[in-house]
Amino acid sequence: MGAITVNTLAERRRAGERFACLTAYDASFARLLDEQGVEVILVGDSLGMVVQGHETTLPVTLDDMVYHTAAVARGARRALIMADLPFLGDADPATALAQSGALMRAGAHMIKIECGATQIPVVERLVDAGIPVCAHLGLTPQAVHRMGGYRVQGRDAEAAAQLESLAGRLEKAGAQALLLEGVTEGLATAVARAGDVPVIGIGASPACDGQVLVIADVIGLTPNPPRFARDFLAEGGSLAGAVRAYVGAVREGRFPESGVHTFS
Ligand code: KIV
Repeated sequence: MGAITVNTLAERRRAGERFACLTAYDASFARLLDEQGVEVILVGDSLGMVVQGHETTLPVTLDDMVYHTAAVARGARRALIMADLPFLGDADPATALAQSGALMRAGAHMIKIECGATQIPVVERLVDAGIPVCAHLGLTPQAVHRMGGYRVQGRDAEAAAQLESLAGRLEKAGAQALLLEGVTEGLATAVARAGDVPVIGIGASPACDGQVLVIADVIGLTPNPPRFARDFLAEGGSLAGAVRAYVGAVREGRFPESGVHTFS
């Protein structure tokens, strides 16, 4: 099996085949995920909570992201490595370009940006420079204070229409994947069906092409895991078994379950 690229993800979408994504922050977990067939490893700024013990992702720096991306890149062989731009790394196109360059040099294959309309020129600049972008929209954790907490987005008709339109504009700007977090299932399903690029969901919809979870939530390490997550350790019996069970459940459309891991 060859390395997973943005083309592989696009082919999976065209073929109607789902793919699995999980976070990792170090070489050992990256190797584990890679060996169990996870297609996309996300070096998420959730490391601020999972690894560093912060309340939010805001304290995570570019140096932190570079350090963990390099560690993950040393552990993975086949998976596509996606790295987060940290808080304010997307404040303007020049800053985003410099920070994304550092992450790509550390071993990332794709950069994930938490997006509003302001980030459209940022996406265009990175794509122009040859950097593949995944646009993260909906519940964007770096905006936790603006949202007044980790709240499901797109619940009223106007907000849903704005989010749907933003997804289209980001795709037009060149984003090669979208990541939808914490939006209603109906909205997530509409976005997943509308465009042409692969859509990864978390607390979104089974209709998404890929699913992502934070690794700590999958292996029972999070004290109060979010409702959209599922602990696969009991059924998997080991760390490798848990990751394998997650990959199987995503590919076969058994995770997420509509109404259980989604929002109305
Ligand atoms: O940082 C992260 O792990 C993420 C996922 C929750 C999608 O952005």
